[in-house]
Amino acid sequence: MGSRIAVFGTGYLGATHAACMAELGHEVVGVDIDPAKLAKLEAGEVPFYEPGLDEILQRNVAAGRLRFTSSYHEAAEFADIHFIGVGTPQKKGEFAADLTYVDAVIETLSPLIDRPSVIFGKSTVPVGTAARLGARARELSPVGEQLEVAWNPEFLREGYAVQDTLHPDRLVLGLDSERQGRAEMAAREVYASLLDENIPFLITDLATAELVKTAANAFLATKISFINAMAEVCEAAGADVSMLADAIGHDARIGRKFLNAGIGFGGGCLPKDIRAFMARAGEIGADEALTFLREVDNINMRRRTRMVDMAKDALGGSLLGARIAVLGSAFKPNSDDVRDSPALNIAGQMQLQGASVTVYDPKAIENSRALFPTLEYAPSTYDACSGADLVMVLTEWEEFRSLDPHSISSAVRRRIIIDGRNCLDRDRWRTANWNYRGLGRP
Ligand code: UDX
Repeated sequence: MGSRIAVFGTGYLGATHAACMAELGHEVVGVDIDPAKLAKLEAGEVPFYEPGLDEILQRNVAAGRLRFTSSYHEAAEFADIHFIGVGTPQKKGEFAADLTYVDAVIETLSPLIDRPSVIFGKSTVPVGTAARLGARARELSPVGEQLEVAWNPEFLREGYAVQDTLHPDRLVLGLDSERQGRAEMAAREVYASLLDENIPFLITDLATAELVKTAANAFLATKISFINAMAEVCEAAGADVSMLADAIGHDARIGRKFLNAGIGFGGGCLPKDIRAFMARAGEIGADEALTFLREVDNINMRRRTRMVDMAKDALGGSLLGARIAVLGSAFKPNSDDVRDSPALNIAGQMQLQGASVTVYDPKAIENSRALFPTLEYAPSTYDACSGADLVMVLTEWEEFRSLDPHSISSAVRRRIIIDGRNCLDRDRWRTANWNYRGLGRP
């Protein structure tokens, strides 16, 4: 018999977690305040693009193991294991994380919990949040001390969310060191089949578990900005950053992953997480320890302006009146997410400088249009490239990596291509008489 679980939030994290927990054999209810999202999920439709998730959703909804509701009462009555998977976006005009949604779950749920239960937080939060939420939950719930709050950070990547949830590298569980109750047992119950596969299971205190997530994202962001800084040096020195990454990546201590130079990191996690980390470090008197993250952020943001400069340079010094095709607007391939997308930011900057920019993305056009309604959008690569003076690949979708240069040669006005992700076969494009420009490559 599986556990009875409620998952709060049905975004990229929550919907995936709910469906995957049902896939593991548990009975799950997903809770959200957005009726449109709930209706889609109930009908077996994932409200965003995530490969493989629709199948799991449909299978488990059909099997009766997974359903969705907007009712906290229903969730509290049904489940005694609760997961919080709501967003913690960046506050407007500040670096700090906005904890409104996490707080709202605790405030609404806790008073309804009338039997011993566990709330696992999965959202990325500033260190110290779990202890604060635990105290508040105990204060609000009629069962008081019998309600436990533990932290179980989520490390999933968009585009690989199902795989990362069902086959994680590790499970981390932060427990309240002053109250060891049911939380560990509940986690062992929920993740039993993963633990059978010997997935490393690390039990920590609450603060460490919160920091594991933030530190992991800070490290990944640092790795990307490191290689992008090397790309700048390579450009000045006439060296090749891709070969450099291959060569240093052979050292197992460094590793080749996350060393792809390009237009930098975006998305709903890395940019806001490193900023929230700096803000929190400031609050707890450790700001000096994280000044390097300010530079990580600066290097990353500089990628975007450098790309605009590169486009200008390719077009002889000005973007005014130029037609530019932008291929890819999602913050990374296999996703329709455009939150803090470097590609869209670059497209927007070029438009402000007088270019007419047409964007094509295999999955993210709808979301892009909602965020940047003034850009033009095309239904295919060919249409986007029609009459273009410059083509820019800004998200490395497979469709673009494998693009045959001849297939768009007749569409464009000038054969100039900027490879913002160093993902194209340079020789192939040059052989087809294109002026190819990569980043950090001579
Ligand atoms: C990230 C973390 O990887 C994940 O563990 C965490 O749970 C959430 O944040 P995600 O935002 O889905 O996941 O994307 P990720 O694959 O990490 O890519 C982040 C950004 O970095 C993308 O914009 C990507 O294009 C960029 N990137 C990644 C690079 O520019 N170079 C690289 O070598 C790798």
